[in-house]
Amino acid sequence: MHGEATMLLRCPICGGDFALEGGSLICAKRHCYDVARQGHVNLAPAAKDSFYTKALFESRAKVFEAGVFAPVVQAISEAVDRHVRGERSVLLDAGCGEGYYTKAVCPAREMVRIGFDLSKEAVRLAARGEKTASFFVGDLAHIPMKDHSADVLLDVFTPANYAEFARVLKPGGVLVKLAPRSGYLKELREAAIGLLRNAEYDGGQVERYAAERMDILEKREITYSLPVTQELVAHLARMTPMLAGVDVGALDLSHITQITIDETMTVGRVRAD
Ligand SMILES: C[S@@+](CC[C@H](N)C(=O)[O-])C[C@H]1O[C@@H](n2cnc3c(N)ncnc32)[C@H](O)[C@@H]1O
Ligand SMILES: [Zn+2]
Repeated sequence: MHGEATMLLRCPICGGDFALEGGSLICAKRHCYDVARQGHVNLAPAAKDSFYTKALFESRAKVFEAGVFAPVVQAISEAVDRHVRGERSVLLDAGCGEGYYTKAVCPAREMVRIGFDLSKEAVRLAARGEKTASFFVGDLAHIPMKDHSADVLLDVFTPANYAEFARVLKPGGVLVKLAPRSGYLKELREAAIGLLRNAEYDGGQVERYAAERMDILEKREITYSLPVTQELVAHLARMTPMLAGVDVGALDLSHITQITIDETMTVGRVRAD
């Protein structure tokens, strides 16, 4: 946990400021959170493990390493550079998973980078060996960040809490929200047809709700296909919540040689109401 990030956090119990004392974050009322060896802090110690397991995040890491989402990073970086000016802007990645976007967007830009997720496993992976970004375990419903502390909030394929987003963003700060569209990983969903709860994915509802809660500055579709190896197809199948409940190991994915990424990026100012 870097000093600049620590200054922006607040105690999840009483909302007070933290000071760093002997490897722990401690507020004036002595609520105490230890900084882990990897550098992250658990500010939601009661959080339960979820569908998002360590294996899922490890598969996600393989997919990111292979560059499958590099064009998405590029699009987010361009949007951040267009809409967020100034030195050492604060980027907060809500539901950051293993921290890929927290670390990868705007690679040449000096920013205070902070990511949080409710999954301890994800945050541990994100923080491991990390020098440029800070990570904590936290809940979107009660983000333990001070009011008006972030210049840009990333929400990539993660549930949104617009009231909390409005609170933690600075006046003039922007939300960059990515959501899947109907073509997203369609090759995998076609292979699992009949086993899926929602075979037809409709991102429209997420988009409509985002439009109600934001003054939109920019909206862009990010759609491309790319060739994939069998090993990568297996990691993609293991990393996506879209195949939740499906026995991925039993699927025949051998015919899949390319994969489609299809997302919307919405950039805007969150309305306080
Ligand atoms: C589909 S993953 C996306 C992760 C990351 N943004 C990415 O694109 O790689 C959704 C993430 O939201 C996190 N999440 C779900 N509910 C949350 C909550 N209430 N507070 C914080 N994170 C949450 C999950 O643990 C998971 O890491
Ligand atoms: Zn406290």
